[in-house]
Amino acid sequence: MQQSGLGIVGYGGFGEFTAKAYAQMPEVKIVAVTDVNAARRNEAASIYQATAYETYEQLLADPAVDIVVINTPPWLHAAQAQQAALAGKHIFLEKPLATDLADADALMQILQEKQVRLSIDYVLRHVPIYTILQKLTASNLLGKITYMRLENVASNEALHADHWFWKRQYSGGIFIEHGVHFFDLCNQLSQSEPADISGHAHTAEDGRQDRVMAAVSYNNGILANFYHAFDRPAILEQTVLRVVMERGTAIVTGWIPDRLEIEGTLSSEHYAELSELLGVELNITTVPAPEGITGATAGEIVTAQVTREDRTADYSQAVIGGLSEFIRSIQDPAYQPQVSLQDSYASFRLAYRAQQSIDQGHNLAY
Ligand SMILES: NC(=O)c1ccc[n+]([C@@H]2O[C@H](COP(=O)([O-])OP(=O)(O)OC[C@H]3O[C@@H](n4cnc5c(N)ncnc54)[C@H](O)[C@@H]3O)[C@@H](O)[C@H]2O)c1
Repeated sequence: MQQSGLGIVGYGGFGEFTAKAYAQMPEVKIVAVTDVNAARRNEAASIYQATAYETYEQLLADPAVDIVVINTPPWLHAAQAQQAALAGKHIFLEKPLATDLADADALMQILQEKQVRLSIDYVLRHVPIYTILQKLTASNLLGKITYMRLENVASNEALHADHWFWKRQYSGGIFIEHGVHFFDLCNQLSQSEPADISGHAHTAEDGRQDRVMAAVSYNNGILANFYHAFDRPAILEQTVLRVVMERGTAIVTGWIPDRLEIEGTLSSEHYAELSELLGVELNITTVPAPEGITGATAGEIVTAQVTREDRTADYSQAVIGGLSEFIRSIQDPAYQPQVSLQDSYASFRLAYRAQQSIDQGHNLAY
């Protein structure tokens, strides 16, 4: 098997986590690393028997590098991706695509001109519970999606006041740096395009925007709410995505989710199909017609739970899944990866517009 040579740019917290995952993939070899922090690049080079480069330009000049994996802080992404494209390298980029829309647009143009591929590492597209949710909503077994609501209350304990995360010029803000994962996921689930966005934020006394929310309407009529807060202890972190369909609801719990619960009603001839799709048995309860509601009928309510044991393993597998699909799309241009370049752009654009809506104080067209 021909291995793709990876050149890693940025070996911080997430760079280290992803490198461990990539090292398990027979189809890739980590051949080069650069980080402005010499200790970090040398550590990675020694673990993976790769070349440590002092500068990014040196890494780009290495012919053994086929794919550049960019794990630096957000404000560097667009410029570094542009440099890689100009050097003729494919790019597997940590989110976000950019911190500024004009930079993202310029990058899209250069990718087109240089005919190199780029994908964003949207891990949520590759975790098992979201893969099941995607199949469930696409199947229409519980009807079409009408509404989605994300509530993501996260920890600020690892984010000291000087962290790049809090500086808008470095991170783009919570929606661009983090919320973009869920915009991407819900864009995919919607099978549509956003139409209109209205954003709001809470600003702490020291000026940090630590809580943000957005209401999004999609062209096919789906409504969605997104709330993110980085304001609590890690032991209290909670992420819940509720997807309401015409004849049921799905609730997913966990940042890398470990639980999917569904409740709904459907014709019994589809029970086996639903059970197979979820990979679990269904619980079926007969419910009498609610009293006092004219026209209400009795029916059967179906519930089911899917659980996952090891979120860290799912996270790592999701990182592998994303890169593996990306490589396949490079080798076979007819292959449609889950995260297309257009998807990578669309979710960034939505995050950017949500932040712009907060800044401008009114709702915006997508
Ligand atoms: N997909 C996910 O689940 C996920 C999770 C965490 C982080 N991330 C993303 O990964 C990226 C990195 O996040 P992190 O938490 O690892 O940050 P980090 O600050 O821990 O690491 C960034 C690394 O980049 C290096 N660096 C900075 N400037 C550089 C430059 N000009 N050239 C080369 N190296 C440079 C730093 O020295 C550091 O080692 C961010 O974009 C973040 O959004 C993604």
